[in-house]
Amino acid sequence: EKCGFEHFMLKEICEQPKALRDTLRARYKDGSLSFPVQIENLLENCKHLLITGCGTAYHAAMVASYVIEQVAGLPVEVLVASELRYRPHIRKEGEVCLLISQSGETADTIASLRLLKELGIPTIALTNVVGCTLSREADWVLYTQAGPEIAVASTKAFTTQLLSLFTIASLIAKQERSGLLEALDQLPGKTQLLIDRQEDIQRFAASQFNKTKVFFMGRLVDFAISLESALKLKEISYTHSEAFAAGELKHGPIALVDTSTLVVALCTQPSLYAKMDSNIKEVKARGATALVITFEDVHTFDDTADAIFRLPQTHPLFSPVLSVIVSQLYAYYCSVLKGNDPDKPRNLAKSVTVE
Ligand code: M6R
Repeated sequence: EKCGFEHFMLKEICEQPKALRDTLRARYKDGSLSFPVQIENLLENCKHLLITGCGTAYHAAMVASYVIEQVAGLPVEVLVASELRYRPHIRKEGEVCLLISQSGETADTIASLRLLKELGIPTIALTNVVGCTLSREADWVLYTQAGPEIAVASTKAFTTQLLSLFTIASLIAKQERSGLLEALDQLPGKTQLLIDRQEDIQRFAASQFNKTKVFFMGRLVDFAISLESALKLKEISYTHSEAFAAGELKHGPIALVDTSTLVVALCTQPSLYAKMDSNIKEVKARGATALVITFEDVHTFDDTADAIFRLPQTHPLFSPVLSVIVSQLYAYYCSVLKGNDPDKPRNLAKSVTVE
């Protein structure tokens, strides 16, 4: 079943180009977007979008909030499902809720769905499992086409969620759609270019896996991917990892930075390169090692970073699909180098069906 791969996680990381292609094909045909008409109407008339999920799915929601607000001008609220279910919810006019869950069986996400339905808010599930509880109970359902995800650490489910969310953003975009669609169409192929370079990440992991503290920082979508990267690393390599919005560095996290710290700076937002560069200088001045993840044609960080991993160029809002693959591979190799089983991390289950 592992098809020659040492672990399901690596197999699933490498399956991303295909999973993304299949997911895109379901929503984008012959140069135009294709959604079930009821979902299209709901999204086009939506005045306030609430997105929820847990863990990795919550991080996908965070990325979507930046993208949808920017390209569609639609206000988006993101809440983690375990909070949403216990928080008094004030229904907004024209509110629609999107619930994201790979398994469609996560207890908190299902409880949130039931609460929102009671309040009369239309619900759309975004899930990977046909016939799951979420798909049966939500008003409408969209599927990712990731195929079965066996490893506990979510990889291809996440990137296919992102791609689906980007198609939603493009559907309700106020700006010219064609540039977005062209970028989306090219994304699966670009992920393959990264996977082909996995040995570079393996080598970097071999030089860093014994670091006791790893911090991920970024701004906007890069902040969301910092959270996802830190989650992945702690989940399977048991390394103490944290993520913060880079602008928060001086508000606390910098106190922990020393020579035993690896700081991974995600830098894919052109208007913020200079800000990120000063954050990197600040951590370097305290002895940290800095890895920068940026696009291939960017040279802002050449003199600051200890190492740079370069991503193929894409629309900056879509960079999460590429940058997260670097983090997935980094976490995978750290886990293996530490002698762990990345497919079955301690204390974790694939789906959290009880609170
Ligand atoms: O099946 P779901 O998408 O609802 O699962 C949500 C989380 O439990 C899940 O994403 C978890 O955080 C993963 N292990 C992360 O890799």
